Amino acid sequence: MSNWLESKTRTSRKWRRTCCAAGLLVFVAIIAGIAIGFASRKNKVDGLAPPTYVDPEKPTTVPVITQFPPNPNLHKSFYGLDYNPAKTIMPWCGAGIQDVVNDINVISQLTNRVRLYGMDCGQADLTFQAINLLKLNATMKVVLTVWVDNNATTYQRQYDALFRVLDTYGTSMVQGISVGNEAIFRKDVTLADLGTRMATVRSEIKKRYNANIPIFTSEIGNNLNSALAGVSDELSGNLHPFFAGVEISTAAQWTFSQYKIKIEDNPTPSGLNGTISEVGWPSAPASSVNMPLAVPGVANLQTMVDTFICQANAVKMPYYWFEYKDEPWKNNPEYPIESNWGLFDKSGNLKIKIPDCPAP
Ligand SMILES: *[C@@H]1O[C@H](CO)[C@@H](O)[C@H](O)[C@H]1NC(C)=O
Ligand SMILES: *[C@@H]1O[C@H](CO)[C@@H](O)[C@H](O)[C@H]1NC(C)=O
Ligand SMILES: *[C@@H]1O[C@H](CO)[C@@H](O)[C@H](O)[C@H]1NC(C)=O
Repeated sequence: MSNWLESKTRTSRKWRRTCCAAGLLVFVAIIAGIAIGFASRKNKVDGLAPPTYVDPEKPTTVPVITQFPPNPNLHKSFYGLDYNPAKTIMPWCGAGIQDVVNDINVISQLTNRVRLYGMDCGQADLTFQAINLLKLNATMKVVLTVWVDNNATTYQRQYDALFRVLDTYGTSMVQGISVGNEAIFRKDVTLADLGTRMATVRSEIKKRYNANIPIFTSEIGNNLNSALAGVSDELSGNLHPFFAGVEISTAAQWTFSQYKIKIEDNPTPSGLNGTISEVGWPSAPASSVNMPLAVPGVANLQTMVDTFICQANAVKMPYYWFEYKDEPWKNNPEYPIESNWGLFDKSGNLKIKIPDCPAP
């Protein structure tokens, strides 16, 4: 959602190396564009119907379809997938159980692990309900995210939803809990504040359920350091070669080396291995080239998958592919790649060939 500043930082570093006056002007214009994009996209969600909140606590009166023919093009080759169900951003709620069952049916043919981005609009409830309805509760695991922004009301709502969900569905399907996603990067919160929130969630989980669920946050690579490791059960990094301006032919290699430098070299007190919480490549538009070697495209998405997935599986590297499906509500003329990171397009058409190498 917001790796723009990281790309800005890295752009800036690159420009300094090759700087010239004209280049600097272009750079300033790009930053201004990004800033305007930031400002105008705030609270803006395109392509969604008006709110029709579906209370996940109320049993649906419509029978849910749970039997699907398996898709022979899908293989369980992904360690995990990032998943943003459509219509789960306040106040544009509206996701229903059938939507999420349809998604989890597809996702479960690619991976046993799914990572969510928030608690609003019943998205965690719907995900657990879908897993139960599809009888996948013994195999599927979920990373929950308590979304952190700069609004205390939002946080309390997300925090309360977390415990309501855990009370309802238990902790056995919970792989981990991310307190925030790129919240330090957005300067919505300080590391100290986030550390306190993580500690509160950790002790509350222990007290209520006597469960050892890893508690962490998810951050851009540049924010993964020993200070963050010190207050986290594991480091969870959004490592994006695209935003770093890496050429596709070396993008997987870059990601592996970032995992070592940013995650493995910053051990946490728990001793748990860290995770890549986001890795992927945008498929469009080809004109949105990043600095200037990182080129969006379906062929490059295929290359990223082909050079990363089986290689990461072979060394048991934990990662969540960003992401399951295109998110048309992130459409932004200022930054058009945002809505094009899916393995599937917004209509559910698979963009690439899925490799066949079972994930650990
Ligand atoms: C999955 O659900 C079934 C039926 O509700 C239950 O019997 C079983 O214990 C559950 N398995 C796990 C691992 O939670
Ligand atoms: C925080 O969020 C709540 C509800 O989501 C909203 O009513 C309130 O205006 C927000 N506060 C600030 C300071 O933005
Ligand atoms: C952590 O990673 C190392 C090296 O890849 C691996 O040998 C070990 O089994 C992992 N530990 C856990 C708990 O997954």
